[in-house]
Amino acid sequence: MTRNILVTGGGTGIGYAIAERFIADGDTVYLTGRRPAVLDKAAAALGDRAHALPCDHTDPDQLTALASRLPDRLDVLVNNAGGNTGFDLPERAGLAALAEAWWSNLNANLLSAVLTTHALADRLTEGASVIHIGSIAADQGSGSYGAAKAALSSWNIDLARTLGPRDITTNIVSPGYIADTEFFRDKLTPDRRNTLIANTFTHRPGAPADIAETVHFLTTPGAHHITAQTINVNGGAHPTR
Ligand SMILES: NC(=O)c1ccc[n+]([C@@H]2O[C@H](COP(=O)([O-])OP(=O)(O)OC[C@H]3O[C@@H](n4cnc5c(N)ncnc54)[C@H](OP(=O)(O)O)[C@@H]3O)[C@@H](O)[C@H]2O)c1
Repeated sequence: MTRNILVTGGGTGIGYAIAERFIADGDTVYLTGRRPAVLDKAAAALGDRAHALPCDHTDPDQLTALASRLPDRLDVLVNNAGGNTGFDLPERAGLAALAEAWWSNLNANLLSAVLTTHALADRLTEGASVIHIGSIAADQGSGSYGAAKAALSSWNIDLARTLGPRDITTNIVSPGYIADTEFFRDKLTPDRRNTLIANTFTHRPGAPADIAETVHFLTTPGAHHITAQTINVNGGAHPTR
């Protein structure tokens, strides 16, 4: 059966690869993001089963409007929209600037997922999957960005407890360094990139498709007893036990 999939931030990078993976299965995919032109281009490249719906996921009014444009039945929700909004904060910023930077990352990476999930929870079908895209920064520290991604995992446990009786799973996929995205903008120097790759045991950057395959797996029947978990996809850059 064709499934309805919502991928937030689906116009670029990891979100685009996730959309592509579900389209390959014959699913219908709704892509969101703040830039209509980027979304339209992505949807055109993905074909007839991809639909571009502009939305800022930090804005409750825009989320209400988005909900009215989505189908009544959602099988998969991928809360992928986000990114580090705080690269440019000077080290000795004043309190007002510090507060603004922290709220910005909390809004972009935590509130965006919380508000989207609450706006759409009623239409998730029995057997649906919710996946949030976290970050290795949650385990390694990266200021307000890492803290926002870390907070996702605490909330995700509550969410899994709430949605479990409806046979809905909810998990975090946590990437390490992934190339070919807009994440770093112009901030990734060759030295930093080499360090990120050297931190892996696989000696390569992650690809958006690495994350897309893991997300897709979590939506398959064989993965349906996995819930309230964080799945790390980082080439060993953050080993766990
Ligand atoms: N690349 C990495 O190395 C890496 C590592 C760990 C985690 N991640 C996480 O992976 C996710 C995807 O990032 P990416 O690497 O694929 O980078 P990306 O290419 O910058 O993708 C982020 C997408 O989210 C959208 N977005 C951001 N804020 C939004 C908002 N408020 N409302 C709606 N859409 C929004 C952006 O589009 P608009 O700007 O048009 O809204 C963009 O399409 C993010 O959550 C990021 O934190 C990435």
